[in-house]
Amino acid sequence: MTQTNVAAVILAAGLGTRMKSAVPKVLHKVAGQPMIGHLLDRLTSFGTDRTVVVTSPDMSTVAEYVAPCPTATQDPPLGTGHAVLAAREALSGFDGDILILFGDTPLLTEETMRAMVEARRGKNNPAVAVLGFTPEDPGEYGRLVNESNGGLEKIVEYRDATDAEREIGLCNAGIMAVDGARLFALLDEVGNDNAKGEYYLTDIVAIARKKGWGCVTVETDDPDEVMGVNSRTGLAEAEAAFQYRLRLQAMEDGATLQDPDAVWFSHDTRLGKDVTIGPNVVFGPGVEIGDNVEIRAFSHIEGATVDRDAIIGPFARLRPGADIGADVHIGNFVEVKEARLDEGAKANHLSYIGDSWVGKGANIGAGTITCNYDGFFKSRTEIGPGAFIGSNTALVAPVKVGAGAITGAGSVIAKDVADDALAITRAPQEERTEWALKYRIRKKAEKEKEQKEAG
Ligand code: UD1
Ligand code: MG
Repeated sequence: MTQTNVAAVILAAGLGTRMKSAVPKVLHKVAGQPMIGHLLDRLTSFGTDRTVVVTSPDMSTVAEYVAPCPTATQDPPLGTGHAVLAAREALSGFDGDILILFGDTPLLTEETMRAMVEARRGKNNPAVAVLGFTPEDPGEYGRLVNESNGGLEKIVEYRDATDAEREIGLCNAGIMAVDGARLFALLDEVGNDNAKGEYYLTDIVAIARKKGWGCVTVETDDPDEVMGVNSRTGLAEAEAAFQYRLRLQAMEDGATLQDPDAVWFSHDTRLGKDVTIGPNVVFGPGVEIGDNVEIRAFSHIEGATVDRDAIIGPFARLRPGADIGADVHIGNFVEVKEARLDEGAKANHLSYIGDSWVGKGANIGAGTITCNYDGFFKSRTEIGPGAFIGSNTALVAPVKVGAGAITGAGSVIAKDVADDALAITRAPQEERTEWALKYRIRKKAEKEKEQKEAG
């Protein structure tokens, strides 16, 4: 970690009542990761000297999630200014710059964090740098009241703003960089005489100005970056904005997205070169895709690794632990979980392959199922290189099919099969000459009789 002389406080103690959820707001996910996780990732690459998350006592799940990052408890939550005060002890002795972030603002970039700290360290040594933005709809964001000379005079919360102040388009993103040597002197003076009866962090600007300390605004031209999620609608908007960012990045890095808007990435999806992705493909967390892989439409991939030149889908499902080798083909309605398929293996239609190893070049026929679960325990299936599993084979695990072996279509294989053997469990086929013809004649006569009797 680089030494930046910056500490960060992430505020996450708010009730998030507008989410109408039993889950704390900052644990709601964007691109498969809790919002606060995005901020922690950005701070890790930014390189803070200390980071502390402010939570409330009934949010043990937040503390568990952010561990080993320390938490400070705000009890009860009485506003954003009050929340930062809860971190006083955790920040004691630190006099560098303090970045204050909101746990519900997950799209913030490292670049902006850097710009904030630079601004705070800029000309005339301002006490506070505030991140501003001009959204299309300023809604209920706090408004930044600037002086004509460009300095920041105060922040007014929407509920406390006059009509004229509500006309201001420049809004408070909620992110601040504050001189650590002056932060708590400012917070100690914040009161709660306002519409919400809360201790607003935003008040420190006017307090600093009264003390003769400067305050500056850093403006981002990307309103999406500072979107604060307060409701489910907001969560969906943040998701859309983040997905847009991930799709753009994937294409810039050399992937072809046939319909970018219909591909859903996870925050951590890794793609090789010349990957082609069809429409309606969803990536859950923990996916790594190798070079020249083609992922066809309607595939769902999570916790899986796919090696070079493989073809996945359409309509394939790769679940956690799917380890797809080079040049493997996984076709429609094939589900793979916790299974390794070696180079060139094929499972093209309607299969479940779980807790398995499939050797090089093996062919898994349509409808093959690995019966890996007996209601109590999971067991493994091993299919040797070059084996040919006939259509509709049930492989009752634990079971091994040897290299080059064949299983007959429709077989239930519950015992190991030797290399190069044929295993078949079908009942022998019987044929009854003209049985079908006689059957139809008899049934037709019965039906006609019944209709006559009914009149
Ligand atoms: C806040 C800002 C507003 C800004 C907006 C940007 C204040 C007073 N208002 O409003 O100017 O435009 O964010 O998104 O700062 N929190 C605590 N403890 C509390 C209250 C809140 O930790 O007692 C945390 C929340 O968990 C959340 C963050 O602080 O992560 C912001 O709180 P929220 O209630 O969403 O503030 P906004 O009304 O959005
Ligand atoms: Mg908010």
